[in-house]
Amino acid sequence: MIDGKKVLFSGMQATGNLTLGNYLGALKNWLTLSDEYECFYSVVDMHSITVRQDPAELRKRARNLLTLYIAAGLDPKKNCIYYQSHVSGHAELAWILNCFTYMGELNRMTQFKDKAAKHADNINAGLFTYPVLMAADILLYQADVVPVGIDQMQHLELTRNLAERFNNIYGNVFTIPEAYIGKVGAKIMSLQDPSKKMSKSDENPNGSIYLMDDPDTILRKCKRAVTDSEGCIRYCDEQPGLKNLIDIYSACTGKTPQETVQEFDGKGYGELKPAVAEAVIGVLKPLQEEYARLSKDKAYIDSVIKENAEKANYYATKTLRKVQRKVGFPDRIR
Ligand code: TRP
Repeated sequence: MIDGKKVLFSGMQATGNLTLGNYLGALKNWLTLSDEYECFYSVVDMHSITVRQDPAELRKRARNLLTLYIAAGLDPKKNCIYYQSHVSGHAELAWILNCFTYMGELNRMTQFKDKAAKHADNINAGLFTYPVLMAADILLYQADVVPVGIDQMQHLELTRNLAERFNNIYGNVFTIPEAYIGKVGAKIMSLQDPSKKMSKSDENPNGSIYLMDDPDTILRKCKRAVTDSEGCIRYCDEQPGLKNLIDIYSACTGKTPQETVQEFDGKGYGELKPAVAEAVIGVLKPLQEEYARLSKDKAYIDSVIKENAEKANYYATKTLRKVQRKVGFPDRIR
């Protein structure tokens, strides 16, 4: 609890270009949660170097992502928006938690297996212990809730296990976090293969709408979206491409899928697709404009980075000192 509010932690990696899926599935949810919770939204750059990065590119992307958080409407006075690497407590707590994590637990992580297969030439220890760093992120701020996608549930489960294990030995140190799974319908699929999630690492750029795509590109991608030969507008699993378009339209306009189906009753895909594009443009245009404005305001973004790193450090250090004391590190002499 901070000032009587429950604490929320989440983070995103600054790798790849964010997609409409990231926005509708995550960022937009973050906004609605920011009144109810004391929120920490991190740009988790320390996680990014588990795969090789170009340094200048990583720095640029990290700043862009941080700017985007704000452009999406997260007020940095209310939400702690900061770089993970600016708070050394993440690494310090991760080390301690590493000593409470079993190899067997990490061996079971499906994301590690996937990533190890994908980066066979660089299966480093950081990639292996990535979930422990993620646990440290969450536990450092005594988070009550963590909005995550399904793909991160296993990591969150590990986090809870580590927290409970630690608490069982040392007494109540960590808050046990709960997952916050966003509303159904917010999961956006690839426009080219609706069985796959819309992803920033998709090789086919037509599968994803990127947050910085211009209106022409958005229209083209929507028109090319894979549908089916049924030709009539229904909301069902047998027409996954169409269902995805309905989900996108609904999420962008605030309508329910049923309302969208009604609106397009008797019409064809040829009418739906440009309407989806228009709805997406309606959401992304103001976001892009705000992003462009903020990007130019170097002093403002710098001040956000500085102030929020201080705030994050304050809370992180509080937990860290407690943990260090529990495991038997000597007190600091002041
Ligand atoms: N691992 C998450 C991802 O790849 C990002 C992340 C890092 C995160 N630390 C976190 C998410 C803590 C939630 C909470 O998407």
